[in-house]
Amino acid sequence: MSVIADAARLDESLAAGATLPASWYSDPAILRLEEERIFARTWQYAGLLEDVAEPGSFTAASAGHVPVVVVRGEDGELRAFVNVCRHRGHLVAQGTGRRSTLQCPYHAWTYGLDGSLRNAPRCDREPGFDASDLSLLPVQVGTFGPLVLVNPDLDAPPLAETVGGLLDTIAESGLDLARVHRRERVEWEIHANWKVTIENYLECYHCPTAHPGFSKVIDVDPDSYLLHAEGRVSSQFGPVRESALAGNGNAPYQPKGPVRQAQYHFVWPSLTMNIEPGPPNISFDTWRAVSPTLTLGFSDYFFGEDVSAQEIAELVAFSTQVGNEDMSLVESVQRGLESGMVPQGRLLPQSETLIQHFQRLVFDALTA
Ligand code: FES
Ligand SMILES: [Fe+2]
Repeated sequence: MSVIADAARLDESLAAGATLPASWYSDPAILRLEEERIFARTWQYAGLLEDVAEPGSFTAASAGHVPVVVVRGEDGELRAFVNVCRHRGHLVAQGTGRRSTLQCPYHAWTYGLDGSLRNAPRCDREPGFDASDLSLLPVQVGTFGPLVLVNPDLDAPPLAETVGGLLDTIAESGLDLARVHRRERVEWEIHANWKVTIENYLECYHCPTAHPGFSKVIDVDPDSYLLHAEGRVSSQFGPVRESALAGNGNAPYQPKGPVRQAQYHFVWPSLTMNIEPGPPNISFDTWRAVSPTLTLGFSDYFFGEDVSAQEIAELVAFSTQVGNEDMSLVESVQRGLESGMVPQGRLLPQSETLIQHFQRLVFDALTA
């Protein structure tokens, strides 16, 4: 029997403003389907371009549940592979570093930076052993500003098609993405399904009630705060409040600076990015479903070279405060969904259009 019962009825109810079924937020069979049909086929954040700048440098990461390693070859070419040994499955590379080969720590199979198997101890004693059949499996690799993204699906459309005009939109905020560097990482452990985390990100309907500090800086009125979904990118644009620029109203940080507009972007399925008004800044967050009810993530904060340590500390504190407020919201939603007592929720499609768009992408992927 199919994991998804009565897809046609669900399709209709989503169009009418209902949410995905509550059971989809804790069912292991749904997560297995998401791994196969979403995370194994889409572009995901794998690491920092600066970590693989030099020939011979590598960084181990994951695309959803798929372990990957990104490598800068001696020829200067950026490549990425499934980071799973072709022998018996140990992860080949760990961490970030620089090497001329990648050696699996289990039985010392050694791969070139082009993924080819160069040496397997004792393989000369095995008639018929063919190393040329046993290269690391390639995955697609691309870059977005200071990030490296990978896609395990070699047949998927290129990254440029997924991100569309997003680089131009970011430039309109006043931020120069070529001139920011990572200064901070904050890690997250959220006891909720990954979709609850993303859905919470995709609306600011909750901002007036749940984020009082944020709402003093950003104008969250529905006539000022704009939502836009196109393809695999969903964006939110928030003007900075005049009172915050003037230093009135107890704003949690001073948002005056070259970046004049807040932008919050989501790239399907698991990358979010945040530009706050003020000094040159952007943070990228990525989210990984470890189980149906546990999501791990991290936020990498990038700033322009001239941004002071104090400005960085204030902005990271501001954003972490918002993140902690969100974490308690999503963990509460997860408890409510798991009760099973409200099998399907009701969206407000005007204020939650980006959630509707996201849930449609999930539905389409799982029922394709
Ligand atoms: S699993 Fe990698 S060498 Fe055996
Ligand atoms: Fe929030």
